[in-house]
Amino acid sequence: MTSYPKTTTLMERGRAFLGTDYAILCGAMSWVSERNLVSAISNAGGFGVIACGAMTPELLDAEIAATRAMTDRPFGVNLITMHPQLFDLIEVCARHQVGHVVLAGGIPPKGSVEAIKAFDAKVIVFAPTLALAKKLLRSGGDALVIEGMEAGGHIGPVSTSVLAQEFLPELSADHLVFVAGGIGRGEAIAGYLEMGAVGVQLGTRFACATESIAHPNFKAAFFRANARDAVASVQVDPRLPVIPVRALKNKGTEAFTAKQIEVARALDEDGIAMDEAQLQIEHYWAGALRRAVIDGDVESGSLMAGQSVGMVKAEEPVADIIAQLMAESEAALSRR
Ligand SMILES: Cc1cc2nc3c(=O)[nH]c(=O)nc-3n(C[C@H](O)[C@H](O)[C@H](O)COP(=O)(O)O)c2cc1C
Repeated sequence: MTSYPKTTTLMERGRAFLGTDYAILCGAMSWVSERNLVSAISNAGGFGVIACGAMTPELLDAEIAATRAMTDRPFGVNLITMHPQLFDLIEVCARHQVGHVVLAGGIPPKGSVEAIKAFDAKVIVFAPTLALAKKLLRSGGDALVIEGMEAGGHIGPVSTSVLAQEFLPELSADHLVFVAGGIGRGEAIAGYLEMGAVGVQLGTRFACATESIAHPNFKAAFFRANARDAVASVQVDPRLPVIPVRALKNKGTEAFTAKQIEVARALDEDGIAMDEAQLQIEHYWAGALRRAVIDGDVESGSLMAGQSVGMVKAEEPVADIIAQLMAESEAALSRR
């Protein structure tokens, strides 16, 4: 392991919590964060996280087993809180003695944090506001990820730089906070570590690594794109709240607008239930991401990407990306 003394010292608490050389998580990316990328990240000294997404418990079971066969380093599992089989998925994690479970996509339902802690796993939570962060950390969350709107995938309304200024001074003395969203280079990592973060989470920068199974068309779209191409989806109907998704603009982003209009019309004319309407919108994205990542349909599929996509220029092995990030951070800290 090349040493990056200043950076690893600032990452100390994060590294101890994750059990890794570097406190760099590769955030779960549905369809992308499967056995190959996750094990590559962990083998390179970072922390890989399996994206469970809409997987069934059987599929998650197989994915964890396959990942374990490819790495003996720690990795985590990301579960979406609104998954209808959340507790069965937790049970699968328990069977495999998964060390860290990331609960994403909303406030963890009653009993979920307890069920994870019952098999001694660490719980990593997301929180969009400081008040909610404090509540989740009080009620069993072991670490927090704050994620700004520069990120790829589902996003909140506030930028990473503002979240970092709001959350880190309040929380970093007593809690473990990882910063995500828009991080493409190590200089940014150094900055957040100095502000009190114990580590960082990146997605976009790793999505097109050599070990990522994303389709060559998906990767080519990333290499061509600039920051301004990664746009947040817009909500069309006030009755149909849409959690914005940041993705490269294409025909699919336009089609999403059309889909919302169609669902709104179904609400008015066919009397479908609000739950059903919202589910249809969520499902739109799940299917569309698969089409882009797996089938390579970059026209109508969803190319979820963060604004750091402009810094992703070529396919590189995960170990090289991590080494670059650490070297950039170390150089920045050494210049201080
Ligand atoms: C293609 C893609 C898919 C994603 N899917 C998920 C997901 O299933 N669950 C989740 O919690 N976050 C998801 N994210 C967010 C990442 O885990 C990570 O937090 C984010 O990418 C960090 O910001 P960055 O893209 O600016 O590096 C996704 C991001 C991307 C780019």
